[in-house]
Amino acid sequence: MLLPLLLLSSQMLCQVLAADYEMLIDDPEIFTDCKENPPGAKGISGLFNLDELELTLDGDKIHVAGNATTVWDIEPTDRITASARLLQLDRGIWQPTVFSIASQDFCGIMYDKDQYWFKYWTRHVDDIDTMKGKCINHKGTKLIHSPFDLNMVLNNVRGTTLHGRYKIVVTLEAFDDEKSVKRPDSICVEIIGDCERL
Ligand SMILES: *[C@@H]1O[C@H](CO)[C@@H](O)[C@H](O)[C@H]1NC(C)=O
Repeated sequence: MLLPLLLLSSQMLCQVLAADYEMLIDDPEIFTDCKENPPGAKGISGLFNLDELELTLDGDKIHVAGNATTVWDIEPTDRITASARLLQLDRGIWQPTVFSIASQDFCGIMYDKDQYWFKYWTRHVDDIDTMKGKCINHKGTKLIHSPFDLNMVLNNVRGTTLHGRYKIVVTLEAFDDEKSVKRPDSICVEIIGDCERL
């Protein structure tokens, strides 16, 4: 009798403590190269040609319109691993937080509707059914976006509070599984901003 009650109340407590946060970005370029750049890693220009993409910072939103064309020089058969980590600036030092996501086969789930990046980004790409077969390992693929506003919102955060300066570090690596080799070119980008509670 006591245990279910305890479980129930702790669940309710968690719901009460869950909070939504947003990340306010102040750099109009949005993406910066990684500070502790892994050897061989390139910034956003190593992944996409953004000449046809408009990124406009508008208060707490990033307005996105236009096209991004993949330029990463890897093979369409390569497997891509992806990770995104949230770090916090603490007395001048970037420290890891509990927030991170990773995929050992990003191309398998780039357009999967249950993924974080689908909600924020890939659901706005036109003609998803065709794009599913291409992914970012097909050099020259043009991702045409229906214009959208990107809200950098983190929902239902529990057990911790976010306050101050943070950055998201996104890393992509490509592997030729047949020969068991990692491609020399990888991608690392950072998005830096301030987190505050909504
Ligand atoms: C994006 O690509 C489409 C199709 O190629 C083209 O019609 C459109 O003008 C491009 N958008 C921009 C902003 O260049």
